[in-house]
Amino acid sequence: MTSRSFKRPHPAKRPKGKTAPPPRTVEVEIEEIGARGDGVARLGGEVVFVPFTVPGDRVVARVEGRRGDGLAAALIEVLVQGPGRAEPACPHFSRCGGCALQHVDDALYGEWKRGLLATQLARAGLGELPLAPLVRVPPGSRRRATFAFARRKHHALLGFNARASHAIIDVERCLLLEPALLALLPPLRTMLAAIVPDGEEGDVVVTQTESGLDVLVEADARLDLFDRERLAAFADAEDLARLSWRRPGAGFIDPIARRRPAVVRFAGIAVEPAPGGFLQPTKGGEVAIAEAVVAAVGGAGSVVDLYSGCGSFTFPLAAGNRILHAVEGEEAPIRALEAAANAQSLRVTTEVRDLARRPLLAPELKKYQAVVFDPPRAGASAQAEQLAEAGPPVVVAVSCNPATLARDLKILQGGGYRIEAVTPIDQFPFSAHLEAVAVCRR
Ligand SMILES: C[S@@+](CC[C@H](N)C(=O)[O-])C[C@H]1O[C@@H](n2cnc3c(N)ncnc32)[C@H](O)[C@@H]1O
Repeated sequence: MTSRSFKRPHPAKRPKGKTAPPPRTVEVEIEEIGARGDGVARLGGEVVFVPFTVPGDRVVARVEGRRGDGLAAALIEVLVQGPGRAEPACPHFSRCGGCALQHVDDALYGEWKRGLLATQLARAGLGELPLAPLVRVPPGSRRRATFAFARRKHHALLGFNARASHAIIDVERCLLLEPALLALLPPLRTMLAAIVPDGEEGDVVVTQTESGLDVLVEADARLDLFDRERLAAFADAEDLARLSWRRPGAGFIDPIARRRPAVVRFAGIAVEPAPGGFLQPTKGGEVAIAEAVVAAVGGAGSVVDLYSGCGSFTFPLAAGNRILHAVEGEEAPIRALEAAANAQSLRVTTEVRDLARRPLLAPELKKYQAVVFDPPRAGASAQAEQLAEAGPPVVVAVSCNPATLARDLKILQGGGYRIEAVTPIDQFPFSAHLEAVAVCRR
């Protein structure tokens, strides 16, 4: 999760087998909002995606290419407005790739977002499931973000990638970010312009911790002594907890300044994640997921937390004085988890293991009364197969991708699990991303 390729894939790849249609202007009626947040219309047997529209809109749009099995179009004019429109609050909206849905009102947005999960569960053939109301995390609470930057002549652009493009929106305002992250952008730009060579591009991961901001710059710059002094002065001036640098291809992170331990807390336990290490994007989202996990696990005396990261759920679960095992694919987060557990003399064992290639096998799983898994977007099909075979009494699936969650739940259902509750948690407001927690029992 923490290693990144600096060659970004082109965002608008053409699917094999279908040629791009010639550009043309069409008039269509929007029927629904699709999975990526674009309005969906139908034209001569083809689906047309038109961004920034709502159901009931009659619009003029320009077909510009293919997207999946449908056509991608740009909005030219709204002829008749459908209900549920709202005025976008951010000046970057429609150009910035961070948000897709500021043009809809709150009720329509909430209904659409919950519907994303309902659609995927239905598509997987899971039948009627108890889908809880959408848990909302307020805008302005995003505590961790990866910003893209590009050094150009006399300045640095810093912000988010533009919609379907590698261009960078030089973010000045943002409805999503914690104020401290937004406030760091202007001095960060000045610092990058001073240190990074002209023409270079990279990323900056900024995380708000309890002890201040933790900043990891990922860029190809050879840092001399003078640069290091400037960077240390930047960390002092901005009162950062920690500033680190990683060059593409380098197998290590260069610790430029560690002014204080960069501490986050899970159920009161202090953990120092590795620079740039994964955390749930909002504290509110993390707490909502952890509460759902702990409630579902109940009094189980032995629990394994798969894809544990540095312990967002492990430590809330540790309060129950149970046998607890945390498994994670990356070394750095599991070492952070281990150090925090040891500091509190908690009974937590740990394991670094690639769960896609080497899932915990049915005989290993049988010793646990409850299993929690929280994989990356690709999901955990290999692990779900083993769970379906082993049949621990409780399985809690946490996911940031409704499609792979639905697929994994289908595997569990096939193994005899009853899906007791599915809770959508929106910690990515205005976007098509959605977190969810599913509780399965057998
Ligand atoms: C969505 S994060 C969840 C982390 C943690 N549960 C949390 O809430 O902070 C997914 C985690 O899975 C880890 N991961 C990704 N691929 C993996 C694999 N093949 N095997 C094991 N862990 C993996 C990542 O390093 C990351 O920590």
